[in-house]
Amino acid sequence: MQVAENIQKNVSDALDVAAIRADFPIFSQTVYGKPLTFLDSAASAQKPKCVIDAETGLYEGYYANIHRGIYKFSQDATEAYERTRERVKTFINANSSKECIFVRGATEGINLVAQTWGRQNIEAGDEIILSWMEHHSNIVPWQMLAQEKGAVIKVIPVLDDGSLDIDAFHELLSNKTKLLAIAHISNSIGTINPVKSMIAKAHSVGAKTLIDGCQAAPHMKIDVQDLNADFYTFSAHKAYGPTGIGVVYGKETLLDAMPPWHGGGDMISTVSFDGTTYNDLPYKFEAGTPNIAGGIAMAVALDYIEAIGFDKIAAHEADLLQYATRRLSEFNSLRILGTAPDKTALISFVMNGAHPHDVGTILDRQGVAVRVGHHCAQPIMDRFEVSGTVRASFGIYNDRADVDRLVDGLKKVMDIFG
Ligand code: ALA
Repeated sequence: MQVAENIQKNVSDALDVAAIRADFPIFSQTVYGKPLTFLDSAASAQKPKCVIDAETGLYEGYYANIHRGIYKFSQDATEAYERTRERVKTFINANSSKECIFVRGATEGINLVAQTWGRQNIEAGDEIILSWMEHHSNIVPWQMLAQEKGAVIKVIPVLDDGSLDIDAFHELLSNKTKLLAIAHISNSIGTINPVKSMIAKAHSVGAKTLIDGCQAAPHMKIDVQDLNADFYTFSAHKAYGPTGIGVVYGKETLLDAMPPWHGGGDMISTVSFDGTTYNDLPYKFEAGTPNIAGGIAMAVALDYIEAIGFDKIAAHEADLLQYATRRLSEFNSLRILGTAPDKTALISFVMNGAHPHDVGTILDRQGVAVRVGHHCAQPIMDRFEVSGTVRASFGIYNDRADVDRLVDGLKKVMDIFG
């Protein structure tokens, strides 16, 4: 164990956390006089200076609306914005940049698919398969659609260790299944789901697939062609990019056949009171002036994490997960929810006698930022019979010292509630 940990530590040392932290202006300050121990990257990651500079660079240097102007700034801004689409294409290995639709975030991406592909293709009696560990954003849009269409939602159970019950999933599949919509990685318990084999299984009964990749984008290489996902969505803000911008990928043949969603400028080809024709992909799904600065800065965030490299990120975060799991196991009164063998660097836990909100408040006073509550995933909380948890989630700027500060904070919790 010790040897394995040392090897892991050496690998993890390959990622220069001090240099990375220096790239993030937020870490130059203290919180209540303590160093900032930011353990809430699963909710939203901090931003490196290059991402912040990309936004201000637009506003200070060449701001103009895109896709509309014949003058230099508009063309420069359009070029920078469209560079992001090419960047996203390679980031997720899409076949074409036309398959990369910009949205406000994954929530909007899922709603777009539900309201376009879903309304066009789901009929009464059809079945949509979700899992018990879904975020509300991958539940409610399907419930709304199912209610409208008379479709049925089936839910893949979760085993005690937080893994999906794959046998049960296979039993849920039938020729009534029209869609499998699941998280690549659970935001609440960290389980990494075997989405590639699940997609293949869903395809074998003729169903389409949507993967919520929010928690995957900052941690692992996404390859939509290798996964063979029909739809895949993620938000930039969890991947060290800006808020208010994200991507929904769809296979070109599917997107082509789907009706538009929001109507307005940019998504049209011609408009008259006799009838309107729609623009080509990807613009058919992008009505109105978009988040131009966010789009431009998203490319910089993707550049930033790929320059670090997912191999290094994965090794570092695996070390943090292993170390944090071991340190938290020192507390007899602490129960970790979600111990699946394939898990991202995120630990959800409850402590006997201490409400998660109290734990979070005490940690906050120590400069330790965690998320507490149901994490927008109430069904999985019900599954584990808790109302909420404390969640510590790690990113590229965290190191073992952050884990130690979390543990010290939890000792204070024990002093008060233990
Ligand atoms: N989905 C985000 C989280 O997991 C907000 O915290």
